[in-house]
Amino acid sequence: MMKHIFQKGSNLETPVLLLLHGTGGTETDLLGIAEMVSPESSVLSVRGNVLENGMPRFFRRLAEGVFDEEDLVFRTQELNEFLDQAAKEYEFDRNNIVALGYSNGANIAASLLLHYEGALKGAILHHPMVPRRGIDLPNNSGIPVFIAAGVNDPICPAKETEDLSQLLQSAGAKVEVKWENFGHQLTRSEVEEAGVWFQKHFG
Ligand code: MLT
Repeated sequence: MMKHIFQKGSNLETPVLLLLHGTGGTETDLLGIAEMVSPESSVLSVRGNVLENGMPRFFRRLAEGVFDEEDLVFRTQELNEFLDQAAKEYEFDRNNIVALGYSNGANIAASLLLHYEGALKGAILHHPMVPRRGIDLPNNSGIPVFIAAGVNDPICPAKETEDLSQLLQSAGAKVEVKWENFGHQLTRSEVEEAGVWFQKHFG
């Protein structure tokens, strides 16, 4: 089980937004952003099950930017199974979920795409890194992915964004990257851009 909020939307055909917060966040952090990106969507917002000095995360890390691969694999499976359960409990289509994640939350969303075929219908990744390298990838054919990145992001160097974009494309995903002249922060303009992207693919 994962602590979460479910809010039923006004349009049940529109993809459910799966909200995944950054390190130290909670399941309420991204509710306002979901409202900006797709006001009609149902929202499933999850709290990470790992605590780092009291800060919720979606998987453990050994140091800043150095991930605990075993825990990442375990937590990715846990989240994927939680999505199966939540779809049953709240009676939405399991195949109609688009993730919206920031930082650590974007990393676990990317990890779902890198480990499970059909886990997500699409993904909005704000300031993600490459969660795992050197594995065989599932088929992500035609899955739209929006990545927002900052050219001066000290946590996520530009190369990480380029590598992730290439990795996802090599699995068949349709990746769009939005660069901004900022750092790791989530900006209003990238959220607006994510909204335009969402309408284009799912509106
Ligand atoms: C991570 O640990 O997932 C990344 O370093 C981003 C973050 O600080 O949450």
